[in-house]
Amino acid sequence: MCPESRCAAPPCYPFGNSTPDAGARLALLEDLYDPATRRHLDALGVGPGWRCLEVGAGHGSIAGYLSDRAGPAGYVLATDIDTSAFVAPQASNLELRTHDIGADALPESAFDLVHARAVLGFARETALQSMIAALKPGGWLMLEQMSSAPTECFEPADDAAAALAREVRRAINALILQRGGDPGLGLRVPRLFRDAGLSDLGGESFSVPLRTPPVARFTLATVDLVRDQIVGAGLMTAAEIDRYRALLAEPDQLFPASLCMVSVWGRRPR
Ligand SMILES: C[S@@+](CC[C@H](N)C(=O)[O-])C[C@H]1O[C@@H](n2cnc3c(N)ncnc32)[C@H](O)[C@@H]1O
Repeated sequence: MCPESRCAAPPCYPFGNSTPDAGARLALLEDLYDPATRRHLDALGVGPGWRCLEVGAGHGSIAGYLSDRAGPAGYVLATDIDTSAFVAPQASNLELRTHDIGADALPESAFDLVHARAVLGFARETALQSMIAALKPGGWLMLEQMSSAPTECFEPADDAAAALAREVRRAINALILQRGGDPGLGLRVPRLFRDAGLSDLGGESFSVPLRTPPVARFTLATVDLVRDQIVGAGLMTAAEIDRYRALLAEPDQLFPASLCMVSVWGRRPR
């Protein structure tokens, strides 16, 4: 079993949820991306009585949000391969389950909404099929994946901090690839949805085009979680990573920009 993610076989989630700092990093991710995610979920109409599946729930803010929206007549199943970072308040309509979306069974035709953010790139391809099969006819699938490609459009080529950020992003993406994941998945989701026959497709992407304090905090927490793995795999030296950490702490740097969250939704045909 992989020590970081608790998965039995690749792909393996390299950030892990069981280390002391993992929950704090996931909370920073939520601070950055929840407002856009909630806006999209509201626009899909999530409301009283909905049955929702939150895949790879992490720290749990979106599962908690869905549980509030669905109310006592609704139901939310929150799953994760490692539930140790989940802290959403307990609610009678919210169930937490340890579950690998790429390998374990799901109820079929059971949910009005299936949502996964920053998960699918760490799971097997079969995950998309089982998420679609879990939807009721007419139910919504909303997938959100981070992508570093749009981020680089915001960063001037001659900015030293941005250049180092690119090196670190490439190292993290290489690590995800080595673990069997797919860091390029975000930009392919629209085509995957079309090829899967989903209807009513829509989408939006969100990023912060400069380094604000929340961007710096999330970036630093991410780098710290994988520093030893990157150095151990020979992708960067410890000195290079420490130089990047120091740049992230300098108050007057404008970059790196945030990673782009690509959100795509579509319906299972009736
Ligand atoms: C980057 S975190 C995102 C957490 C949460 N979705 C969010 O956006 O706030 C990725 C989450 O997916 C979970 N995960 C990774 N591979 C998984 C799999 N095969 N099945 C279920 N969850 C998985 C991880 O344990 C982690 O909690």
